[in-house]
Parts: sequence; C-alpha cells; structure tokens
Amino acid sequence: MKPDDEVLALRRARVARRWELDDEVVIVRAGEPAPWPGTDQHFGFMPHPDAVYLTGVGSPGTTLAYDAGAAQWEFFGPRFSPERLVWEQPPTPVGRPLEELEDWLSERDGRAVIELGACGQPEGAALALSAAIALERMTKDRAEIDDLRRAAAASAAGFEWVYAHAAVGMSERQIQIGMEAEFFAAGAPRVAYDSIVASGPHGAYLHYVYAGDDPLRPASRAITAGDLLLIDAGAQFGGYASDVTRTMVVGAEPDDHQEFLWRLVLSVQQRAIDMCRPGAVWREVHAAAATALGAGLVELGLLRGTPAELVSEGAVALFFPHGLGHLLGLSVHDLTSVPYGPAAGDDPVLSRLGPDRVLQDGMVTTVEPGIYFIDALLGDPAKREQFADCVVWERVDELRGLGGIRIEDDILVTDGEPDVLTAAIAKPIRIG
Ligand code: GLY
Ligand code: MN
Ligand code: MN
Repeated sequence: MKPDDEVLALRRARVARRWELDDEVVIVRAGEPAPWPGTDQHFGFMPHPDAVYLTGVGSPGTTLAYDAGAAQWEFFGPRFSPERLVWEQPPTPVGRPLEELEDWLSERDGRAVIELGACGQPEGAALALSAAIALERMTKDRAEIDDLRRAAAASAAGFEWVYAHAAVGMSERQIQIGMEAEFFAAGAPRVAYDSIVASGPHGAYLHYVYAGDDPLRPASRAITAGDLLLIDAGAQFGGYASDVTRTMVVGAEPDDHQEFLWRLVLSVQQRAIDMCRPGAVWREVHAAAATALGAGLVELGLLRGTPAELVSEGAVALFFPHGLGHLLGLSVHDLTSVPYGPAAGDDPVLSRLGPDRVLQDGMVTTVEPGIYFIDALLGDPAKREQFADCVVWERVDELRGLGGIRIEDDILVTDGEPDVLTAAIAKPIRIG
C-alpha cells in the first residue's frame, strides 16, 4: 500500500524528532541509475531505501529536503525535457520541479547541509542521521506491513508452482523461471534478490545463483532423483522484500540422513520463531538455535561434546556458518548500510542495529537455520586438525556432497504470538 500523506507526515515527524537538529538543512536523495561501464546503458534503478521510506516514491532523481530551522519538508522531482520524452516515459510528477532545488538551497545559504540517501557511505553527521532513520525503519507501520504481506503472497504463488511442477530432469534454471513467472504474475514488479535455486551439492554454496559462474555461458544443473533442492527466493512488492527458503528432496523418499537433518532444521526453526517476541535479544535467539543444531549433530554422530561448547568453540559453525536471520524491509538484509561493529557497542543508537538488538513489536526478521556440507570449510586441513577431537570426520566425509538444508520464514514480532508472514508457504519434505 502506497503510504498516504498522513503516514508520510508521521514518518517524517518521528525522524525529525530523532534528528534533534537546530537550523541545518538535510537532503535525502533517491539516487540515479548506475551506468553500465563501456556502454550507454544503465542498470535497473534501485532507489535508496531511506528516500523511499520518507517519500513513498521510487523514481530516480527524486529528492526530499528538510529545513530544520523552519521544521519544513520540501519534495522535488524531475521533469523530463521533450527530447528525453522521445525515448523514455515520464516519471510520475511529484513535488516541485527538481531544477528549483538549487534556488531552495541558495535561499538557505550559510547553513550546514547534510546529504543522506544515495550519496555514498554516510559518515559523521550523516551517519548519525542515517542511523536515526534506521531506528524508525526497524519497526514497521501498517502500510509497510501491508506491502510485506503482499510480497509474501507473491512468493507463495511462486513456491506453489515449484511444488506442483518441479521434477527430476528439470534444470535449476527451468525451476527458477517457472517460479519467478508466478511472482510476477501475482503482481511483484521484481524479485527481492537473485533467486537461489540450488540442487544437490550446489545447496552448500550459501548464495548460489544462476550465472554466478560466468554470465556469458551460465551452467545449470539438472535435478536427479533423491537430490535436495534448496530454493531461497522472494518477491518484492512496493519496494518491500520477502525472503523465503524451502528445501525438499525431489523424486524420491528422503534417505535417513536427509530426513534427520531436515526435521532437525525445521524443529530448530519452529523453536526460534516462537522466541521472536518483544524483549528477546537476537544474539541469544541465535545461540539457542545454534546449540540445538549442535545437539542434533551430536545425536547424528557427526560431532562429539557438549552442544554449548561446540557452539562456542566454532565446531557448529562448520555446519551452520551464518546468522540465524536478519531484519527485513525495504531491502532484504535491511538496515545494514548503517555500519555497526564492535565500536557500536558503546553507541546508544548504532548498538541497537547490531546483533545485540532487542526484538520489539513491529520488527520483521527472518528466521533461517541451516545445516550445510561446505567443502571450503570441511575440506580445510587447518580446520580438520583444529576440530580433530570434536568432529567425527569419517562420518562427516560420508555426507559431503549432500548440499545444504535451510528453512526460512519472515516473522513480524507482535505483542501477541509471532506473526509468520510467509506461513502460507508449505514445507514439504518431498516433491516431484
Ligand atoms: N536470501 C538471502 C538470505 O537469506 O539472507
Ligand atoms: Mn533467504
Ligand atoms: Mn534471509
């Protein structure tokens, strides 16, 4: 749902309150399409999420300006020349013509100007102001939740196609095309990120994408009976992402290892989703999930030791080498452009964006545990020596080539039960 004037006014008022400025001038730019080097073409345009949040518009060039002294917002949008209109359709006209921005700024000559949005990595005052926008974007309003639900519904249409059509002999690419066609038919203008359709051993590359090898002559593997098929894909709607992973065995009943690991990942995911409640510390939710995965790997005979110690020593991370999830919104890994790190621990604003963040009503996070058999980790001689006591390498080596199992949903944290936005997408263990 496009945010109406009332919603936009509220977002701007809350952001301005956090900024605590005197008489500075702030500019928030949506940006321009990035040129494709060596050509006269441009990449598809991605508006800066902070600009989209504050304007509800995604057209290139649109610019929001704020006069803190007067507590006044002004919106500027491009108008195309007749020459340009021969080649391109006009953007929806919004605000004042962009040419007037320069005059608007010179009327405020001598005041500090802080540039945000599409102007590179923020630093200094711009970083503080960007972090303040991030804190507002961390919890979603009704218009945002509506778009997130629509993105999830379009994703559901794509996954339903997969469940009905994916079969042994089809290529990863065929499945990707069929699924994405349903995203678009359901109203999604674009995908939220490059779809991951990874069969068999390819599931062990966390971000395996079509044409990631060579965009000129991409390879695409055909599915064989008994392969795991890991699909991590999501439609985008109104700029908002969905991010869903399902893993299935295709064309055969799962073998014992596949079934054990699949049920382990699912049960860990269900318990982690249940922890997505206000007040939960994300780092602790991750630790609980990693520990439960470690316990499963001990039960299966791949690890030896105490699950919590296996997590702290790094043995579980050989099989689960990523975070349990991330915030979701106007980008798939939302709010990561504002850098945070060890130093952020002392900063009252930045520290709230990092892994220590405390879940709040209105936040949307993914929950995506996984177990993978990654050659780059499991075949590394230094790691094999380091973990000689706690990893049962002979058993692990038997499972190399299995790929990976990840199950991912998008969770709206509420004061009641966690609201799984992607709950309508079934979780079959076997298809085809
Ligand atoms: N789709 C990328 C991720 O799950 O983080
Ligand atoms: Mn994902
Ligand atoms: Mn994700």
